[in-house]
Amino acid sequence: MSHFLWFLSAALSLCLALCFLHFRKKYSFWRELGIPFVPAGFPLGNIQHTSHQMLDLYKELKGKHPIGGVFQFTEPVAMITDPEMIKNVLVRDFRHFYDRGGYADGTHDPLSGHMLNSESDRWRVLRHGSSPIFSTGRLRAFFPEMLRMMDEFRAFLDAKLASEGETVELKGMLGQLTTDISVRFLLGGEGNNLNAPERDLYQAITNGAFILPSLWKQFLMTCYRSVAKKLRLRVYTRELTEAMKHLVAKTIDDRAEGSANACRRINLIDQLLKLPGFEGKGSLTLEEIAGQVFLFVGAYETNSLTTFYCLHELAQRLDLQQRARACVLEALDKHGGITYEAIADMPYLDQCINETLRKNPPSINLIRVTTEDYPVPDSTGVVLPKGLNVVIPVYAIHYDAEYYPDPERFDPDRFAPEASSNRTPYTFLPFGGGPKNCIGYRQGKMHLRTMLAMLLCSYEFSECPKIIQGTRSEKHSVLKLKGNLWLRVRKLHRMG
Ligand code: HEM
Repeated sequence: MSHFLWFLSAALSLCLALCFLHFRKKYSFWRELGIPFVPAGFPLGNIQHTSHQMLDLYKELKGKHPIGGVFQFTEPVAMITDPEMIKNVLVRDFRHFYDRGGYADGTHDPLSGHMLNSESDRWRVLRHGSSPIFSTGRLRAFFPEMLRMMDEFRAFLDAKLASEGETVELKGMLGQLTTDISVRFLLGGEGNNLNAPERDLYQAITNGAFILPSLWKQFLMTCYRSVAKKLRLRVYTRELTEAMKHLVAKTIDDRAEGSANACRRINLIDQLLKLPGFEGKGSLTLEEIAGQVFLFVGAYETNSLTTFYCLHELAQRLDLQQRARACVLEALDKHGGITYEAIADMPYLDQCINETLRKNPPSINLIRVTTEDYPVPDSTGVVLPKGLNVVIPVYAIHYDAEYYPDPERFDPDRFAPEASSNRTPYTFLPFGGGPKNCIGYRQGKMHLRTMLAMLLCSYEFSECPKIIQGTRSEKHSVLKLKGNLWLRVRKLHRMG
């Protein structure tokens, strides 16, 4: 063997040996810390955030210790399995778990610099600056427009039923509707996704939002972030980035020109334009604003997902659907029609929404990262080191029979007042919790109630042979269906 080949094979062997030691050290993290864990293999580890995988890991770890060890690729991740400890992470000891540690590269992938991924002060400024959009006054003022848009939707659905018959694909239509609502509510413009799908912002968002990058990209973004940044890896496509930049630029122009499309009410972009730039000078750039707008408009998809999951459940249980409809009609009767007060006074409908969110929480997990060393408040003396990823397995907790007996069953009575008050706190987490909970929580709920109330008092939904085509998508970081949702829709004598 020549000297060169000898040298090459020695160098290669040394590299392999160093890699082996490096990864062995990583995979021994939980053993060294003395925390129960599920062993993992190189290079995938044992979590990739799919719902059933999380449920299996949770079942294996629950009851052994408030925290269990798992691995995402080669990175250790602390899975919280105990509700008291969840409260510590989300609320009591929030300052130790201030960030989510998401991958963001504002320069080469501008949409990734949104609030969900923002750290420390940057997050605080964005959260504080966006909050006025969700004030009660603004929600109330938007309500008549919400009713107008729902009326247009019902007219659209009536026409479809008349021309195409009673079997209807609802997933796309609901997605277009909620995208239109989001554009109107957040930006004051007309989305027109329902009536002019060629301008389909919905398609751009649904194709590009919440999508998981390929495995090798995830590996680098999770374990070797600086390499990922050097390689300029992106989470979001250029098409989606351009669509969002165009939407923001157009909204700014429309308002400057006083266009008929623009609504004068204060909108998200007005709020964002008031904020200081991320470098501490000037204001946010077009790209930075596009990133925030993308998060907010994209988050609306959770509303259409929840609406169709709820209709799907109620289509299978016509007795529960009838009960929900009766509750809606009772509130309309009591409040003299579809008013803001009536929508807030539909307890059984609310129970149906909660039960839908229990079974189908759009966020399978809540994510945090330790921003300081964290001494676990128990007798073991374990300290979680700074920079450790932490996961709260929402989906798995929602399917834990200790809190929700017979968890596969759709039973809105689990959320009747007495049952809710007897439930262990921090075991129902569809909107997250603590200072980083969902900022759109109240408004999301109000829009969900309005959509469902107006649909239920106008139509009866039942199963049809086509029903759901496709299973849950594993390409997305939220619970989504790969296929469509077909239901039989029968028009009722309109009652509201
Ligand atoms: C069914 C409806 C919705 C569900 C289930 C939902 C769920 C969630 C969850 C689980 C989080 C993470 C919370 C945490 O880490 O503790 C979140 C954050 C967020 N959501 Fe929602 N969401 C919904 C609707 C909306 C809507 C309609 C908007 C906007 C208009 C919105 C905007 C946001 C934003 C901006 C954040 C990041 C908050 C922060 O980092 O401070 N969400 N949402």
